[in-house]
Amino acid sequence: MPWLPLLLFALYALALSAALSVKGLRSAPGSVTDASRSPEPQHALNVLVIGATGGTGRQLVMQALERGHHVTALVRNPAALGIQHERLHVMRGNVLDVTGLDEAVRGQDAVLSALGHKRFFGPTRILSDGTRNLLRAMETYGVRRLVCETALGIGDSAGRMGLYYTFFVILVILPFYFWDKTRQERLIAASHVHWIIVRPAALSNGPRRGRYRQGRRIGSFLWTARISRGDVADFMLNQLTDDTYLRAAPGLAW
Ligand SMILES: NC(=O)c1ccc[n+]([C@@H]2O[C@H](COP(=O)([O-])OP(=O)(O)OC[C@H]3O[C@@H](n4cnc5c(N)ncnc54)[C@H](OP(=O)(O)O)[C@@H]3O)[C@@H](O)[C@H]2O)c1
Repeated sequence: MPWLPLLLFALYALALSAALSVKGLRSAPGSVTDASRSPEPQHALNVLVIGATGGTGRQLVMQALERGHHVTALVRNPAALGIQHERLHVMRGNVLDVTGLDEAVRGQDAVLSALGHKRFFGPTRILSDGTRNLLRAMETYGVRRLVCETALGIGDSAGRMGLYYTFFVILVILPFYFWDKTRQERLIAASHVHWIIVRPAALSNGPRRGRYRQGRRIGSFLWTARISRGDVADFMLNQLTDDTYLRAAPGLAW
């Protein structure tokens, strides 16, 4: 029966896609699709960046400094950040270590999270456990706003990473990772902070265009939509003072 493996794979594909859709967060109905707008002028804020040594995190740090914010970067390896600035405070820490996280969160106006990792091939709770610790610290110290990067492909955006991601990357390489992202999103949605979950399409290190599509029904069920980490950071920083997507999970793509 040469078709049996194919049939089993198709069943697995259907089951995982359905699970990511049903278990993932259903984004609040208020979110809309529209062209990117000029950001509201922002006053200087104290912002904590989680995942600052990563692709998006580094963009968040640089663009937050450009906008005049005071930035704390929580990093596991300070030498890996390679950015120096008078308004940048680099703290060694780990989201899985509650003590260091408390110290980083205290006194902030907002937290930007671009947490990610490469432990793809096994059950993992790094994203959800780290985010649980972060939310607990934010609620303890009264830090109200969280802007957190997850991904298209979860909840009401299931399938919107396109066929290649839906039937290969997510199914074969990232099932555990995406499952943990559904837990991460649900923890955030159940919290008392003012949250915005940002779900980008496939990330590139291409240039920041400053124009992208945002909101619901972003991405494609067929092809792979893309966006640069620079534009994701731009959108995430806009969310510090914009309530349009408060308690919603807008998608983001060029
Ligand atoms: N790649 C894509 O196409 C794509 C598409 C959509 C969404 N996303 C999501 O977007 C997010 C950002 O992706 P990215 O590629 O820009 O980031 P990335 O390069 O994977 O960086 C992840 C960051 O998280 C940090 N981190 C990991 N574990 C940590 C821990 N225990 N404590 C503190 N920090 C920790 C890493 O620190 P170290 O430098 O110390 O490892 C790194 O700074 C991820 O959640 C990713 O899944 C990715």
